Amino acid sequence: MGCNTGKNLFPYLDVYPEAEAHGVDVGAPLLRFGHAVASHENRAVHFSQQDAENLDFEDDSFDIVTSSFFLHELPVKSTKAIFAEAKRVLKPGGLMVHMELPPNSEVDPYYGFYLDWDTGPNNNEPFYAEFRNQDVIGLCQGVGFEADKCIKLLIPNYSSFGPDNFKAFVDGEKDAPQHGNGASWFIFGAWV
Ligand SMILES: C[S@@+](CC[C@H](N)C(=O)[O-])C[C@H]1O[C@@H](n2cnc3c(N)ncnc32)[C@H](O)[C@@H]1O
Repeated sequence: MGCNTGKNLFPYLDVYPEAEAHGVDVGAPLLRFGHAVASHENRAVHFSQQDAENLDFEDDSFDIVTSSFFLHELPVKSTKAIFAEAKRVLKPGGLMVHMELPPNSEVDPYYGFYLDWDTGPNNNEPFYAEFRNQDVIGLCQGVGFEADKCIKLLIPNYSSFGPDNFKAFVDGEKDAPQHGNGASWFIFGAWV
């Protein structure tokens, strides 16, 4: 959801080449560009112009519903509608998972202040601070995801951490670095 030109959707197909991938965004030119790149790279991605708050997909359509750096662009009322749509289109046992800026509750006060510099007056991000003040797990539960099915974790930034360290992280042998300078990303969501 909010796939833009799809560059953070394509890696799913690197890992799951047999997957049927759909990217939705409200921006038609982005989708056209994404389609051109996907075709050039021989990737089967179905791009469609849709509002993630009101998707055209039928109930129980997907194994994974995902977004990256999307939700901080939206008012919280939209985030709630989007989580409800994600839950509706996920199959039983499916996963909603979002990569995002860390909420204030996950970072120290200085880093929270540093991140919030990007809000309205400085970098034209009107919803950024409001999103970062949310209890995102509470928002998931608010649309009906069960408390024990909700997840949140830090994952290392693959490019800076490196493939060997990343494998060690996946194998439980290394922790992710703390937030700061893009060292790690905040992941959260819920299983249906
Ligand atoms: C910061 S970009 C997302 C970046 C992209 N996911 C990536 O990882 O490269 C935010 C995107 O959300 C899209 N967007 C905003 N509101 C939307 C909505 N209600 N439904 C679908 N897409 C939306 C915008 O058009 C924009 O492309």
